[in-house]
Amino acid sequence: MADQIKATDLFSNWAKEGKDQRMANTHAPSVKEMLDHVLTAISSPFSFIDAGCGNGWVIRKVLENDLCKYAVGVDGASTMIEQAKLNGPKENYVCEDLLSWIPDQKVDIVHSMEVLYYFKEPLKLLNHIFKNWLKPNGKLVSGVDFYFENEKSHSWPTDLNVHMTLLSKEEWLSIFQSAGFLDCHSWYANGSSDFHGTLCLFGHKHS
Ligand SMILES: C[S@@+](CC[C@H](N)C(=O)[O-])C[C@H]1O[C@@H](n2cnc3c(N)ncnc32)[C@H](O)[C@@H]1O
Repeated sequence: MADQIKATDLFSNWAKEGKDQRMANTHAPSVKEMLDHVLTAISSPFSFIDAGCGNGWVIRKVLENDLCKYAVGVDGASTMIEQAKLNGPKENYVCEDLLSWIPDQKVDIVHSMEVLYYFKEPLKLLNHIFKNWLKPNGKLVSGVDFYFENEKSHSWPTDLNVHMTLLSKEEWLSIFQSAGFLDCHSWYANGSSDFHGTLCLFGHKHS
């Protein structure tokens, strides 16, 4: 088998080929459920990071919320971030590796869609987010379509020649807890007769 390519290189190519917006459109229904889950009850100003933001569409959506005072999208794919900066305020996007980047200020909410399984050790990223990105009382909401119970997804690492870490719902919840998150729970978003649904995961960093 040929050497696997880096996820950030794969997605830089996708952005060059114009596939970024189609991906955003596919993810939008699940992301809506995740954003509703963390934003509906919010009544005071909040700050927000989108981890692996792609072309930045979630940041643009969240900035429409008058209570959002600070929002940053971070992605390691340079062409995705170029695209994001073309479509929104440049200062809201950074091109960095999620495992090493530290925000200027900690935030209330971290969101990520279809990102966590690209890491060989997702717990390392969860530890980093918990310790270095989230304020006390902060929340993490994350969606994955590649997971054990979604059998149709199992061929993706071979199809795309990219590393993906396959975990079950219980294993994901367990590593959220290992990172220190409380109130961990999950649900399936946007399921249908031919899609098991996005596995959405939530964790709370208590104050
Ligand atoms: C499937 S795409 C999802 C993009 C976006 N969340 C969306 O829903 O449109 C996964 C994204 O994670 C980014 N990514 C993967 N590994 C990364 C890493 N180590 N550091 C930064 N970004 C990474 C990729 O570059 C890509 O843009």
